[in-house]
Amino acid sequence: MEIILALLFTVVLGFVVKHIFFPFRNVNEPPCIRGCIPWFGAAFKFGKAPLEFIKQARLKYGPVFTVYMLGKRYTFVTDEEGFQAFCTSKDVDFEQAVQQSVQHTASIPEEIFYKNRSRLYIMMKGRLSTSNLQHMPRSLCQELQKHMEDLGHEGTEELRDLVRHIMFPSTVNTLFGKDIFLTTRDNVKEFEEHYQNFDDDFEYATQLPKYFLKKWSKSKKWLLKSFEKVVLHAEETNPSDDSSKTLWQHVLDTLQGKTFSANYGLLLLWASQANAIPVSFWTLAFILSQPSVYKKVMDELEPVYRKSGKENIQLSEDDLKKFPFIKWCILETIRLRAPGAIIKKVITPMTIQNFVIPAGDLLALSPYWIHRNPKYFPEPNTFKPDRWKEANLEKNVSLEGFVAFGGGGHQCPGRWFAIMEIQILVAMLLCKYECHLLDPLPKESLLHLVGTQQPEGPCRIQYKLRI
Ligand code: HEM
Repeated sequence: MEIILALLFTVVLGFVVKHIFFPFRNVNEPPCIRGCIPWFGAAFKFGKAPLEFIKQARLKYGPVFTVYMLGKRYTFVTDEEGFQAFCTSKDVDFEQAVQQSVQHTASIPEEIFYKNRSRLYIMMKGRLSTSNLQHMPRSLCQELQKHMEDLGHEGTEELRDLVRHIMFPSTVNTLFGKDIFLTTRDNVKEFEEHYQNFDDDFEYATQLPKYFLKKWSKSKKWLLKSFEKVVLHAEETNPSDDSSKTLWQHVLDTLQGKTFSANYGLLLLWASQANAIPVSFWTLAFILSQPSVYKKVMDELEPVYRKSGKENIQLSEDDLKKFPFIKWCILETIRLRAPGAIIKKVITPMTIQNFVIPAGDLLALSPYWIHRNPKYFPEPNTFKPDRWKEANLEKNVSLEGFVAFGGGGHQCPGRWFAIMEIQILVAMLLCKYECHLLDPLPKESLLHLVGTQQPEGPCRIQYKLRI
């Protein structure tokens, strides 16, 4: 009798566990990779090399498949039909997909996030649109020039660090206000270090409790404390004239309720740096590692250099229009080092390739892999800036299949600003210094899903002031 009861208990328990952790699903759903550990699912295998996992899963299961991890279902769509649905379907929602990550990383509560997101998005899209960026090159040039002076006459450094030391303070001063909190060298260093810790573990922080991320939590706390002072300063100095405000002051004007202003400061800081810095690094690395590309870039820059020399380079919006090849290099870099995945949440069941994707799934699109589809990009693994000749960049239209800034109605509002600042950085650095790479172009690490790919190995640069 006891044995029968024990057996019965085991069967009932097994049934309950199965239905809690692996609930019953419609047979028309895509193939699902679950792993064998309840709740964790395939998380460990996926986390070891996410980009490789997606590639192998596509080969094994076809273009649409689901991965069950950490209690969530991610349905990957990797072909054209899925790509169209991701960008245009009304059955998917961006806000619901990212809300929890925003809460985990910037501590912005759900109701505050929903109240403010679309207001902020509309404001930023307008403020950072190409027609509103005309005055930016001037202040960006001044900032970049100032922070490039720290490089001295010559030196050798990791290219990634060199780019960050110049870009980080320059962008912060441009978007948040000149020297609001980056007043001394030590100040800049401390701020940059905390930002770096925050960025390094950002991807893990979207998923893991903060107890596992001590260093990250400490830096987050430090950054939030600093932003409290920045909020006060920006409010005290907020001009009435719209055109004199910084982007940060526009954010403060747009927010409903001021309790979480510092948290929004942290979020804007991360969004404005997390991709722009690695893309700048890769762009310079691609240019410097290919002599024919480097020569074309220098030919383009020659008139500027002839006009202003290396000391006081001022670039206007019109000057930037004369550097189409540098812009193509940036876009080609972004194509090859694009984010591993961007996500939206399925809010009503939808059909893709005869599969029913249930509500609640996170629909994931991989710009990294889409950009390697030869249908959109022939010779997809080759760095070919000239392919961008075909894009109507004058009208801000990129190439078909390019989704590094997101797809559909939620494209990155900072994309034109990012391209502009990278264009100026590349032009100024290469006009001012003769540069050589001391290491071959590193491969991209396949470990990250969020944001621009990181290099797998070192990439040192040697630079010397031009005579
Ligand atoms: C090359 C650099 C950049 C890349 C590759 C990039 C990429 C992206 C991507 C993929 C998204 C998410 C879109 C989606 O999931 O559909 C995004 C969102 C966003 N980006 Fe960027 N970004 C860059 C630079 C910037 C800069 C410089 C800023 C600010 C000045 C910025 C501000 C934002 C903001 C605020 C959002 C959230 C938009 C929303 O609420 O819908 N980004 N970006």
